[in-house]
Formats: sequence, C-alpha cells, structure tokens
Amino acid sequence: MYFNIRRPSGPTPYPVIGNVLSLIGENPPWNIFRDMTFKYGPIFSVKFGSFWTVVINNHELTQEALLTKFNDFSGRPYSYNFEWFTDNGKDIAFAQPTPTWKFHRKLAHSAIRKYATGDLETLVQEVIPKVRDVFADKAGTPFDPKEVITLAVYNIIASMCFGHDYNFKDPHLLRFIKLSEEINGSFGNGTLADFIPAARFLPSKQVNIFQNATKEFLAMILTEVNQHLKTYSTDEPANDVIELLLKTQKDELETDSSASKLTDVHIKQIVSDLFIAGTDTSTSSLLWAVACMIDYPDVQEKIKKELGDVIGERPPQLGDRGKLPYTEAVIMETMRFGTVVPLSLPHCAIKDSTIGNYKVPENTWVFINTWALHNDSKYWDSPEKFKPERFLDSTCTVKQRLPSFLPFSTGRRGCVGEALAKAQIFLIFTWLIQNYKFEKAPGVTGDVAIAGRPQQINFIKSYQTVAHSRY
Ligand code: HEM
Repeated sequence: MYFNIRRPSGPTPYPVIGNVLSLIGENPPWNIFRDMTFKYGPIFSVKFGSFWTVVINNHELTQEALLTKFNDFSGRPYSYNFEWFTDNGKDIAFAQPTPTWKFHRKLAHSAIRKYATGDLETLVQEVIPKVRDVFADKAGTPFDPKEVITLAVYNIIASMCFGHDYNFKDPHLLRFIKLSEEINGSFGNGTLADFIPAARFLPSKQVNIFQNATKEFLAMILTEVNQHLKTYSTDEPANDVIELLLKTQKDELETDSSASKLTDVHIKQIVSDLFIAGTDTSTSSLLWAVACMIDYPDVQEKIKKELGDVIGERPPQLGDRGKLPYTEAVIMETMRFGTVVPLSLPHCAIKDSTIGNYKVPENTWVFINTWALHNDSKYWDSPEKFKPERFLDSTCTVKQRLPSFLPFSTGRRGCVGEALAKAQIFLIFTWLIQNYKFEKAPGVTGDVAIAGRPQQINFIKSYQTVAHSRY
C-alpha cells in the first residue's frame, strides 16, 4: 500500500537550494506556510537544500504525527548548528530518541517537577525585590519591559540550575543573556550548512558568531558544573539541578555500568538545554502577556479585580491557580495569540511512514506549524482577535485540552518544561498585574502586541510602557 501513495505535493524546489529562497524576507515562515495551504492543502512538502520537509498545518494531522505515530516521528533532523551546540547530540532537545535520551528527559522532568510544584515560589519571591527596584527607578516614565523581565527569568532559571542567583547588573548574567540570544537567533535562521552539508567548509560570518557564542556559553555552564564538583558532596541532599544530576550520576555508577549515560558532558548539555529552551520562551510569553494588557486595559482591570477578590494583597501562590479562571484564560489566550514557538522544534521521520494519505519516507523533516493551528478558523472564532473568554465555558470554568491548541507541543517530544513554564508565567504575571497598572507610553497609538522580526522564537516587537504602582 505504501508504494502506491505519493509524498505530499508542494512548490517546485530549485536545484541545490530547494525552496529556501521562498522563506527569506520579512514575512514569517509560519505565515508563508499557512498561505501555501491555500494551494496545496494542510500538508505539503518543501525542500531545504538537500532535505525534504513535510509541513503540517492542522490539528488532525498533527495528532496523527505526534500522538498516533509518535514512534515514527520522534527523531530530530540532522543540523550542523544542532550538532555544534549539543556536542553531537548529548543533550535532550536535539538528541535522537535513544534510551540515553529517554533517561535524560526523565531526569530533567523530575528535577523540574520539584520546582514547578513548590520551590519556584521561593525563587520568584527572591527575584521580586530586584524587579520592584527596577520599576521604582522608572518612576512612572516610559520604558521597554524586556530587560527587567529577561533578567528576572534568567535569574530564576540560574537559581534553579546553579543554586545561586545574580545581581541584575552582574556582567556574568548580562553575558549569559547576550550569548543565549545569539544562539537562539542562529537556531531560528538556520545557516547554509544546515541545509547543504558541504557548505560547512565555506567561511561564514553567521556560523562564526554562532560557534563563538556556543563555545563561550557552554564553557560558562561547564564552569558551574566544575564548581559543583569541587564543593558538593553527593551524600548531601541535592538543592539545585546540577547537584541532582551529580547525585544521580553517582547512584548510577554504584548500581550499574550505565554511568556513561550521564557523563559530565551530558550534565553540561542538559543544563544548557534548560537555559536555552526555558529562558527566552518564558520571557517572550511574559512580554506578550504585558503587551496584551496594555492593548486591552479592560482585561487588565478584570484580572486585577479577580486577584483582589480571591487573594487580596498577599503575593500569588501556585495553589491559587485553580481559583483564578479568568486570569488563567488570559494566560492561555496569550499563548495562543503570541504563539512563542510558532514552528515548534523540527521532528524527523525515523522510519518510512505515512501522514494522512501521503507517504513520508525515513529521514524526512517534519515541521508542525503551531501558529497555523492557533489561527485555524475551524477551531477559533476570529482568531486574529485577543479574546480570553474563548477559554472559558458557560460556568466560567477554564476549558482544558482544547483542540488545535499546542503551545508546548505534545507526545514523546513535548516540552519538558511545560509545568515549570506555566507555573513561572502565572507567578510573575499575576504579581505584575497585582502591583502595577501597565499603560501605553504617551504618544503611542495603535496596538503594541505585534510580532517582531521572525526567529525560532516569536519575540514581540519592542514596545514602551508606563507602569503605575498600584500601592
Ligand atoms: C512558555 C514557555 C515554553 C514554551 C512555549 C515551550 C515550547 C516548547 C516546544 C514547542 C517544544 C518542542 C516540542 C516538540 O519538538 O514537539 C519544546 C521542547 C523543549 N522544551 Fe520547552 N517551552 C517553554 C519553556 C520551557 C522551559 C521553562 C524548559 C525547561 C526549563 C523547557 C525545556 C524544553 C526541552 C528540554 C525541550 C526538548 C524536549 C525534547 O526534545 O525531548 N521549555 N518546548
């Protein structure tokens, strides 16, 4: 049967470069892909250099690829950039689905669970006075909230992974942020060598920037691991992610020979993944959330009222989440509206398979156009509008597991940090709205919740706000 069906059709590729040229420009690739569905349907093929890629643009086919056939599509494509960043796939996000990857994923999950269910509250409380100082410095004058939100999120992930935080002006922290932005920027744009393997031997400014940033970033993480190796005794309880990984490494050594599944290099790469995957995504989500509050002041006031009615003036806690349905609906709508990882992470067919009525041969790259899912008018009424109520039922209860809503993807490769990200965004966002009223900077007209330059992460266009203290 497989031999009687075709690969999905799509635009004709040029020799050597494939369809890469049609994706260059100001129009984001997720938009271009969605436009292609009008001609080719919800699934089509494009060629990136020498690699065939199938792009999925609807809920039904996404479910088939990620849930029904998770075994067939849980690979990651080969990429020169990924290979460099991951020391040949020794991390979680870009590794192939081997038993070692499964073990690392499970470890990261259990490390993160500890924070997502409790310890995170303490970390957020520790960072809040620093955020408050920044807002006090601004004293009601216009500013771009990106810097302070970025510093807060990085500090929280640093405390979680390294067991210590930073002063907001610490050059080390500022360097971390700069390097991580450079790395994320390169992942998003890809390089010629990602699509045409022979191009890795050509000189390239972009590749140099990426490789230098990666080297320095990984060296900084390794310094933290080495510091822990000097000071942490694995007989003591683990208080941060590196300690937890070192403790597991020792237990593994004592119980069986599989210790090579968790070398110091693996530890460095796992921690790097948590930083790269967990910081800019959460920062971007919070920036979208604040921007939407500026554009929709009535929504902002409804949240403030719900917070006042339910928790009063005390700081929000994770246990409050189920009691604040409107606030939760706003956070979910922000994740749909902003869709911070619009093309998810690329998957790869690890065996010959099918999606819909089409064949998808082994090694085909598979892109999920999450942005198209989040804007599909079959599931979302006026998807271009910001409407938190769409996530509430007639009894004002939050609708769970809505179809065509996958900000964290799903299935075997779904986001490891989903619980942590949701908890962190909830705690920071509710604290911000409880304490400040965000308004447009004087003279600004039109919406501020607008996407910026397209990258792997859908960062919002820079905007200014005035934050008035509510107390
Ligand atoms: C709003 C915040 C976040 C969003 C929207 C998000 C979204 C995603 C998406 C779409 C994927 C790709 C899943 C796939 O390939 O099917 C992913 C993977 C991943 N995320 Fe997140 N993420 C967020 C925060 C975090 C955080 C806080 C962490 C950890 C600290 C994290 C760790 C990871 C890891 C390790 C993977 C790779 C999983 C694998 O390949 O097996 N993410 N995330």
